[in-house]
Amino acid sequence: MVLEKKSLVTHLECSLTGEHYPPGVLYGLSPANAPLFVRYDLKTLKRTLSKETLAARAPNMWRYREFLPLGPDIEAVSLGETITPLIPLPTLERRLQCAAVWVKDEGRLPTGSFKCRGMAVAVSMARSLGVTRIAIPTAGNAGSGLAAYASRAGIESFVFTPADTPEITASEIAFHGAKAWRVDGLVGDCAKIVADGTEAMGWFDLTTLKEPYRVEGKKTMGLELAEQFDWRLPELIFFPTGGGVCLIAMWKVFNELKEIGWLEGPLPRMVAVQSTGCGPIVKAFEAGAREVEAWDNVTTGIHGVRVPNPLGGGLVLDVLYASEGFGTMVNDDAVHEMRAKICAAEGLHMCPEGAACLVALAVERQSGRVGPDDRVVVFNTASGLKSPMPPLTQSLNKDEPVDYSTMQI
Ligand SMILES: Cc1ncc(COP(=O)(O)O)c(C=O)c1O
Repeated sequence: MVLEKKSLVTHLECSLTGEHYPPGVLYGLSPANAPLFVRYDLKTLKRTLSKETLAARAPNMWRYREFLPLGPDIEAVSLGETITPLIPLPTLERRLQCAAVWVKDEGRLPTGSFKCRGMAVAVSMARSLGVTRIAIPTAGNAGSGLAAYASRAGIESFVFTPADTPEITASEIAFHGAKAWRVDGLVGDCAKIVADGTEAMGWFDLTTLKEPYRVEGKKTMGLELAEQFDWRLPELIFFPTGGGVCLIAMWKVFNELKEIGWLEGPLPRMVAVQSTGCGPIVKAFEAGAREVEAWDNVTTGIHGVRVPNPLGGGLVLDVLYASEGFGTMVNDDAVHEMRAKICAAEGLHMCPEGAACLVALAVERQSGRVGPDDRVVVFNTASGLKSPMPPLTQSLNKDEPVDYSTMQI
């Protein structure tokens, strides 16, 4: 097997017009104001990489380098991105009468969320293309991911997050060295601050889908999944959806894998999980629309899915239709209840966004959109430790006798 000596990127392609642009240049949106997608020489990839070669590599996201835009001449900015585990939930599986349910736990990544994958690749590319200052609007996790990777790369970062972002994540952003602000609005208001400040501040805008490489990093979720399932993917994937980049990224790489002939069986049905308090993509899906309209009465407290006007909404809808998947909305109270139940009953501490996917799974098993023979993977997109928990209020006084009889209630 000959290892490729350069990146396999052939060009970047406008997702709206299909126009091609050369690699090796710093890009934001295309001239048509649409996201750009990276395209690869998949024939060479197929010829030069085998599943066996891959299997022998170190267990981290860089093992998929040929599917990423970094050539061997670009040093990865890395904090030790482990392969995230697939954790079965046998109790829930039995209760829902599902063939199999796994949680892919992205909370194990360096800043405790899946956002590390996109940031590792985007920051590596930005550094190689001479960027010294980056700004981002964020529900929280993308901000802490950027802050960590930018600091690691010697790049200055500016982060804008809604005022009610959970304390741990907000503090984490600043602690990693970003210049950070809470904004009294939603993520779209933060995005406007970033876009409006570009000229004055000279920063590179890393907003979701406004640059091409975060998507590429997130493809590694799909690559890991394919390898963990021995190249025969499960029937359904549930993902908590805000901007929707992960659904777009996984679908992109599943198709790349299909094109090189590595996958057996059909592709999974992709499911976008949103909240009844902010569900613009699901609403558009239910209406059979191709574009997403802004959601105007945002009431959810589930931060990751609180994106009322997603830039790539139409692209997410394309994935749902193409995969014969669907969108589904869940209620915040049910999500908090599920998170507590799974944490206590199965030992797995999920973030609210991950728990939302389990609520959705339960609802859709009941509705029949998930059948008894379907194997399902649910993404837990962040560690539960990053979101508030009910406080522990019971205490003991060491100088007083302990009444053990009260401990069993
Ligand atoms: C924990 C968590 N889950 C899910 C999402 C949604 O991801 P995306 O915007 O890629 O759809 C986010 C985004 O902030 C998040 O922080």
